[in-house]
Amino acid sequence: MKTDFSRQLHEFRKSAGLTQEQLAEKAGVSFQAVSKWENSQSYPDIELLPLIASALHADIDTLLGYQPDRRDITWYDEKFSSREYYWGNQFWEGAYDVFRFLPPVKPLRLLDMGCGEGQAAVFFARNGYRVSAFDISENGLRKGKNLARINQVAVDFFRADLLKYHPGRSAGELFDVIYCSGALQYLPADIRAEFIAEAKAATQVNGIHILNVFVEKPFLETPPDWETDREYFWETGELFRYYHDWKIEKMEEQIFDCTSSGVPHRHCMDVLVARKITQ
Ligand SMILES: C[S@@+](CC[C@H](N)C(=O)[O-])C[C@H]1O[C@@H](n2cnc3c(N)ncnc32)[C@H](O)[C@@H]1O
Repeated sequence: MKTDFSRQLHEFRKSAGLTQEQLAEKAGVSFQAVSKWENSQSYPDIELLPLIASALHADIDTLLGYQPDRRDITWYDEKFSSREYYWGNQFWEGAYDVFRFLPPVKPLRLLDMGCGEGQAAVFFARNGYRVSAFDISENGLRKGKNLARINQVAVDFFRADLLKYHPGRSAGELFDVIYCSGALQYLPADIRAEFIAEAKAATQVNGIHILNVFVEKPFLETPPDWETDREYFWETGELFRYYHDWKIEKMEEQIFDCTSSGVPHRHCMDVLVARKITQ
């Protein structure tokens, strides 16, 4: 019988685009050993787990099929558990700015942070970008992988927590595009500066960041589906200030209607497209 570990290992290895030989090389073992792990015939030495998890962009808990605590299950994870896609096939229109400001004339490396069910990530991959995408929601990632399979594109989906994720430490080259829609409100104010500095450092010269953040306004009510214990509004202009040393391609504040959760409400959102000009 397949164990959680063998199933997860197989799935994560496939989505990382690694053969058993390649994973074996990274872990310093024979490919027969990897094959045995995937067939539930043996387990790796416990000391190898960090190496394996990092090669697969996974965390050890997920590889072992362990969910530490219900607090890790977000509101979105519940929503994403249904068969239907929460936002259908839609994604933020800012995704089109990726094409406008950095067209895929070569396979550019793009990171989608807080990718949800993967609609935008798959859209980028279909249009020639080399996409890595992460979210904290297992259900979102599962649906993203399914969407990628249906569209016959490769997307490196992996589970990560925005609060613990270090873009600079992700394997391989720098990113050309970092895209994040509707997720930066999960960063508490005191860790934003460090997070953004690291994301900027992990970006190629001429690369871009396309981001939006929810902004608090005294004339707008808190949205009904706002998770007050884990979502934190930004201030007007706060996002832009972190990019004072990049070329600002677009900087906008938008107020718009929304019916997510079934209750009509309004959001205020700061939108940024910024380009790295020098190292
Ligand atoms: C408003 S949705 C946006 C999803 C997607 N970017 C889109 O535009 O459709 C917010 C996303 O942030 C994810 N999220 C919440 N907390 C997170 C965290 N700590 N780390 C990573 N993702 C998180 C949720 O699971 C959800 O997918």
